Amino acid sequence: MARITTNYVCQACGNVSSKWAGKCDACGAWNSLQQEATSPPMGASARGVKGKAVTLTSLAGEPEDVKRSSTGIGELDRVLGGGLVPGAAILIGGDPGIGKSTLLVQAAANLTKAHDTVIYISGEEALAQLRLRASRLGLSEAPVLLGAETNIADIRKTVEQYGRVGALIIDSIQTMWTPALDAAPGTVSQLRTAAQELIHLAKTTDMALIMIGHVTKDGQIAGPRVLEHMVDTVIYFEGDLGDQFRLLRSVKNRFGPAHEIGVFEMRSTGLHEVANPSALFLEARDEGVPGAAVYAGVEGTRPVLVEIQALAAPSSLATPRRAVVGWDSNRLSMILAVLETRCGVSFAGRDVFLNVAGGMKITEPAADLAVAAALVSSLSGKCCPANSVFFGEISLSGAIRPVSRLNLRLREAAKLGFAQAFTSRSRKAEPDDEDTVKSLKLFDLNDLEDLLSPGGFQRQEG
Ligand code: TYD
Ligand code: MG
Repeated sequence: MARITTNYVCQACGNVSSKWAGKCDACGAWNSLQQEATSPPMGASARGVKGKAVTLTSLAGEPEDVKRSSTGIGELDRVLGGGLVPGAAILIGGDPGIGKSTLLVQAAANLTKAHDTVIYISGEEALAQLRLRASRLGLSEAPVLLGAETNIADIRKTVEQYGRVGALIIDSIQTMWTPALDAAPGTVSQLRTAAQELIHLAKTTDMALIMIGHVTKDGQIAGPRVLEHMVDTVIYFEGDLGDQFRLLRSVKNRFGPAHEIGVFEMRSTGLHEVANPSALFLEARDEGVPGAAVYAGVEGTRPVLVEIQALAAPSSLATPRRAVVGWDSNRLSMILAVLETRCGVSFAGRDVFLNVAGGMKITEPAADLAVAAALVSSLSGKCCPANSVFFGEISLSGAIRPVSRLNLRLREAAKLGFAQAFTSRSRKAEPDDEDTVKSLKLFDLNDLEDLLSPGGFQRQEG
């Protein structure tokens, strides 16, 4: 008989050690080690097993045509790369209360329209609660098969009973447990094994599997990122709980482009798609106020225009504050340093606050130029020119580097009624000849000095 050993598993990163310690050796998290019984190492049971040769083939061959089924929610389909792929395992993470269950109940109801069998298993809410939500959303009539269960063995049996299942939704993976393992639900080994069993079931029966995962305080899918490598698609549902806007963002997708975003609005009737996010992010814009600049960005394949707001206020602190919402604080420090060193614009003795309006999180370095424009505008008290967008990466020398997808950004700006764009033009990517793009006046900037000097926006306003 194989010996069952006891190990200590870090609940934050999944690292296994044989001794308990206050701090995890691998990720440095404190008090995260928990005792778990682990199954014997593979080697022990596999010893003596001969194995057989695998037939290898070549890369050439007819690619199979994957049939994607639409979730009926355009923004969700876009993030999935065009719809649900049979056999795909998808992980949707997000803060509690952000709307994961709401989104998936809506998607499940839509999927049944194509006469697919859709099973929704909830380990968190009672059936009555789920029905209440469905009736609020007006989906009570949809033939979604509901179940309240947490035992993986029972779920497998249920799915097998139905034969061909289109999609299985698990709400949430943290509540699931497999009797094959002698560890408490919610521990890393349970999480991993339960997910593995479900993914195996999905792959063998060609059923799409969607697992909901809660995110821990520090923003990782709880019980760690241990699931991210196992699934085909990882999607995060983000947004401010106080705000009604929600962003769906794919961080990994084996069936389509990653970093795609979908925008939703949470109303009393559930989640509604926002077809034109730029218009929404710019809706309540403070035009004519110093410290605001519009950034023309691209998230995934989609252009998004957002307002960047900066405030440089006199500080009474010895070390002035630097606070950022929606952007990288290291990048802000870098831009402040470049502005000071290369252009002589000093923010010493000032608290600097930077905010991306609408609850957006920006990761692209192309936002540098818009940030610099907002900062300089706030400091000088002069507004950025009206109807202008900014984009470009700033290097440490103060030079402005061209960014990718010039035309996509310009087209979106023109579509929303902007008249001029400040950026650096790449010789390779010239602007389109399209009339909409031609209507924009382009300011070709070489370095930050150009933004501040004649031709730049400060002079224009003055
Ligand atoms: P829920 O989907 O339960 O969140 P999660 O599964 O991510 O924990 O959504 C919870 C929030 O959404 C709750 O605060 C109420 C709100 N909500 C609405 O505003 N409108 C609605 O139609 C529904 C169903 C929920
Ligand atoms: Mg929920």
